[in-house]
Amino acid sequence: MLKNIVVLGSLNVDNILKMPRMPFEGETMALQDVTTAPGGKGANQAVAAARQGANVFFVGAVGNDTNGQFMKTTLLTNGVNVDQVAVKSDVPTGSAYIMLQENGANTIMIHGGANQALTLDHVEAARDIIAKADILVAQFEVPLAVITAAFAMAKAYNVQTILNPAPAVYSITPELAALTDVIVPNETEAQLLSGIKVIPDEGVLNRVADKLLATGVPRVIITLGGAGSFVAEGTKRWFVDPVKVLAQDTTAAGDTFIGTLANVLNKDFTNIDASVTRATYASALAVTRAGAIPSIPTYEEVDNFNDTATKL
Ligand code: RIB
Ligand code: NA
Repeated sequence: MLKNIVVLGSLNVDNILKMPRMPFEGETMALQDVTTAPGGKGANQAVAAARQGANVFFVGAVGNDTNGQFMKTTLLTNGVNVDQVAVKSDVPTGSAYIMLQENGANTIMIHGGANQALTLDHVEAARDIIAKADILVAQFEVPLAVITAAFAMAKAYNVQTILNPAPAVYSITPELAALTDVIVPNETEAQLLSGIKVIPDEGVLNRVADKLLATGVPRVIITLGGAGSFVAEGTKRWFVDPVKVLAQDTTAAGDTFIGTLANVLNKDFTNIDASVTRATYASALAVTRAGAIPSIPTYEEVDNFNDTATKL
């Protein structure tokens, strides 16, 4: 059966600045390329889930500008429902400036724009789609009060919730923690949220997981890039292996992971391991390609990944 997934989150047009390395302060440095691509953590996660075959509904906002039209069209062509994407007249569509180094690593600056203009009214307007959803997914590129209200609504209808605390600009309030079924930070976010320097070491990750579980969230999945992921559910802890690939552009790798996870995870969370494994394959594929949304793989591509040459 197709899953109904609601993604509450950001839509950004990404301005990708390709550079040999990060510039130094005071330096003038030549870029190797400048491109744009559709992105935003919310949009990326929605498209990832849709390309995995889910029925996806988006709750968000764009400005009344060409970037906003571009983002709505991008979601629509990927089969994502945009009925609850508001068009704001007083703010621009969100944008991102991505410093992409030759080794595929990125540093991202965002201007929230319409993403930050989302209000509780938008959540109320989305009540019907949240009520019939299987799962609600959110990140931290929209206001915290909006996320909390949406999660409260989801829980009132017995809808699963996945929180991707990215970027880690808010702390996990007790209220939000109590409404969250799974939290999925990357290593940077896990470090900011726990106050512990994250390295792919079992002892360290156990302490980080303990801190995050202590907020009241019952399940934690820490993504560790090339080191795979670490899962914690109560006292059960385990690593999920990475899939090694040649990184071209890591942008949207985490988002592809979340969108895929949302599509596979079952109602009683008994298949976390299989879900994380498939999400790992999907995100590894996204790392081998340029751009955010353009790099997100389809269901078939993830299925066939085992025998492609992109794997190292
Ligand atoms: O996670 C990657 C995304 O972060 C980019 O697409 C950018 O828009 C920012 O939201
Ligand atoms: Na990518």
